[in-house]
Amino acid sequence: MKHLYNEGRTNNNTTFLLLHGTGGTEQDLLPIAEFIDPTANVLSVRGSILENGMPRFFKRLAEGVFDEADLIARTEQLNDFIAKAANDYGFNRQKVIAIGYSNGANIAGSLLFHHENSLRGAILHHPMVPRRGIELPNLAGANVLITAGKQDPMCPPEEAEDLHDMLENADAQVETFWTEGGHQLVQEEVNRAKQWYEQHITK
Ligand code: MLT
Repeated sequence: MKHLYNEGRTNNNTTFLLLHGTGGTEQDLLPIAEFIDPTANVLSVRGSILENGMPRFFKRLAEGVFDEADLIARTEQLNDFIAKAANDYGFNRQKVIAIGYSNGANIAGSLLFHHENSLRGAILHHPMVPRRGIELPNLAGANVLITAGKQDPMCPPEEAEDLHDMLENADAQVETFWTEGGHQLVQEEVNRAKQWYEQHITK
């Protein structure tokens, strides 16, 4: 998969897995990773699907309607890619924290839904429920922060609420942070992500 890897300071075990939104690239979330923890390793991946020239992590049939078979296949591919990257670059596979926005948050959620121990934690900015009607793996030990906008037309509040409940029912420790805004990622969410990370991951 097209990606970039920046090695952090050797005394920091965390690797951020950065997953951009539709139409983004592996460059987009670098400033957020830098803001949350400038010493962590960064593995930033570009989605390999193109929708009208816009990179995404999996196909969709319509806005908000996912191609489930493709979602499952791409999630497995990403999970395998993380393991390969951990091996190639020498980072700890058990200490991967995803930071995803929108479509990237959705594939990060899908990693949690389909692969036990795929992520130590996740910061999901404006996610949806990746898939319904399946049993989730045991997510005990995983910490998840969801940030969502009350006026988000793409990722409606019920999606964030349902996702929160589903992850919590699978024993993840979940927190949701709300803004008054829409789909755009705003500074107060990133500030909250940094606080959350310091409380739950690095403490
Ligand atoms: C998705 O397709 O993952 C969601 O609709 C969000 C997005 O458009 O990126």
